[in-house]
Amino acid sequence: MADTVYNFGAGPAMLPPPVMEKIQQEWLNFQGMGVSLIEISHRSKEFVAVLEEAQRLFRELTGLPENYRILFVHGGARMQFSALPLNFADCGSAKKCLYVDSGNFAKLAATEAQIFSSTEIIASSAEDNYSYIPTVTPDMVDQRGSYLHITSNNTIYGTRWNDFPETGNVPLIADMTSELLSRQIDYSKFGVVYAGLQKNLGPSGMAMVIVREDLLGHHVEQTPTLLNYTQCDKDNSLTNTTNTFAIYVIKLVLEWLKEQGGIVAIEQRNEAKAALLYQAIDQGDFYRGIANVADRSIMNVSFRLPSEELEASFLQQAEKNGLYALKGHRNAGGVRASIYNPMPLSGVEKLVNFMEEFKVNI
Ligand SMILES: Cc1ncc(COP(=O)(O)O)c(C=O)c1O
Repeated sequence: MADTVYNFGAGPAMLPPPVMEKIQQEWLNFQGMGVSLIEISHRSKEFVAVLEEAQRLFRELTGLPENYRILFVHGGARMQFSALPLNFADCGSAKKCLYVDSGNFAKLAATEAQIFSSTEIIASSAEDNYSYIPTVTPDMVDQRGSYLHITSNNTIYGTRWNDFPETGNVPLIADMTSELLSRQIDYSKFGVVYAGLQKNLGPSGMAMVIVREDLLGHHVEQTPTLLNYTQCDKDNSLTNTTNTFAIYVIKLVLEWLKEQGGIVAIEQRNEAKAALLYQAIDQGDFYRGIANVADRSIMNVSFRLPSEELEASFLQQAEKNGLYALKGHRNAGGVRASIYNPMPLSGVEKLVNFMEEFKVNI
């Protein structure tokens, strides 16, 4: 067994070690109460203070404009695939939800929306196994549309939007599950941003939704209460017994992020980690990146080796060397290194050294 194990899993993913240690310290006795945080009421003043501090820190770190609300909702990111058309399909005169199909989750989001609303995929990179981000020009966005949905970072293929599309009066909605808080974002360009927590934020099973205030109140009548963002906002995310532990972890992660120097500093670190890894991939023909170079993600780096046999051997040996969960998603194959905010540079350095050794020794 290697000394340090670096976890490159795509999600649930590694959390910052200081956050895990803080959870351990406070586990049996939260703030001197003599009970654990997970044993106290979601309506207690102590828990509400945690939730509101998480919202405050998110605003502080991201510079989120005042007219955006922060919600904590159930069911991870995919539950929001249903909630989006229910909450926003009525926002446009054509009652038609527009989607860009840039990957597996983007496609799933559009397919789910079809259950509740008329939808249209206006651009897709499916024909090239999602190796690039499709181009969206303003004339492609029907101004009668309810919203345009994009997946800002495609976790499986390792592509991301560098420049977000201009949508005119149509609200832009982004699934940022695999990159929220990893780079500076101008939130005022978006109507809604949402993310499953399990990558850069905390444990799995919940999501954060950032929504522009004027988009609330448009839900269809049959919207289930727990998918209704307007209700959720009214109740400050406490309509029912929420996942108190997950929200507590988000607060700790945000505190950690602040200690790291905030989003500007973490983005610089993320850029440096990704550059090191892409440099190792681009050196020679042995490793081959999956994503189009101009659309490369700095969170998920997917690449292939010359054969599936070599990939299997690479993964097996990597794991023996303390490089955990590098197997690519079944839709893309090969290797995927997820290098979210908590991954230290030393983890990427270790991976890059291993890649070099593996190449030389076969
Ligand atoms: C971009 C993106 N969207 C949605 C999902 C689905 O998230 P969840 O499992 O929380 O529903 C994932 C999961 O990895 C993802 O990467």
